[in-house]
Amino acid sequence: MTTEPAKIPAIEVENLTVSFGPRPALLNVSVTIDQGLLVGIIGPNGAGKSTLVKAILGFVKPDLGTVRLLGSSLDDAKGRLAYVPQRGAVDWDYPITVYEVAMMGRYPNIAWWKDPGRQDHEIVNQALEMVRMSDFKNRQIGGLSGGQQQRVFMARALAQGSDILLLDEPFAGVDAATERAILDVLERARATGRTLVVVHHDLATAAEYFDRLMLIKQRLFAYGTPRQVLNQDLLSEVYEGKLKVFSGMGKAEECHA
Ligand SMILES: Nc1ncnc2c1ncn2[C@@H]1O[C@H](COP(=O)(O)OP(=O)(O)OP(=O)(O)O)[C@@H](O)[C@H]1O
Ligand SMILES: [Mg+2]
Repeated sequence: MTTEPAKIPAIEVENLTVSFGPRPALLNVSVTIDQGLLVGIIGPNGAGKSTLVKAILGFVKPDLGTVRLLGSSLDDAKGRLAYVPQRGAVDWDYPITVYEVAMMGRYPNIAWWKDPGRQDHEIVNQALEMVRMSDFKNRQIGGLSGGQQQRVFMARALAQGSDILLLDEPFAGVDAATERAILDVLERARATGRTLVVVHHDLATAAEYFDRLMLIKQRLFAYGTPRQVLNQDLLSEVYEGKLKVFSGMGKAEECHA
């Protein structure tokens, strides 16, 4: 009998603590994410979701703990990561076209003394095609709608060709068609073996979209399949009872009343 060699995990977070003030934003978080999964990070506002993503990227320095990516230290693996920030985190006044934004994804792969080559242009065109923004490529990014900007940012991340993609609430404020288009892009990226970690706000769709869910509020409350994580007791604890779970469906919805 032959057995496949165990794959190195995509992301290993160990005992991670991050503080901005006296109260840690993340406390002693440990989680191992296997390659090729589409993973959702859920938790209430201020839970530390964006902070976890930024710590994985090395944008914030932890007080304690380590992050390893594909078996390497953060410094050695940085080029294998791409990031789509939470909306509102970017100043769009800068005059730059859709095509130029997507091409920014190629810069880590282009020597500083060179212009983008034919292959870079091909990759950027493919990425814009994938997010269905080819028709907008000569438009100024600042003049696009929020959902369109979100797709361009995704194209930039895809053009990077990274093994791991981190996306902070890519579905926030987009309409149903754009949400479907973004999900389709995530699923296609997963089909090529990439690992995707997505901060997600909508518990009602979490079970449908993701292979694994990570439930956080300062600490990691659960990491597992949607069925394991969307558990009434866990959710009540984390969302302080402001939640209903549809029995038997593994689906939950935040109550805004
Ligand atoms: N740069 C910063 N300086 C000071 N405090 C910060 C900073 N970034 C985050 N925090 C704090 O850390 C905590 C976690 O914030 P974070 O942005 O990670 O939450 P989140 O789960 O992404 O929330 P949301 O759902 O609102 O996006 C919050 O209390 C926040 O105020
Ligand atoms: Mg956030």
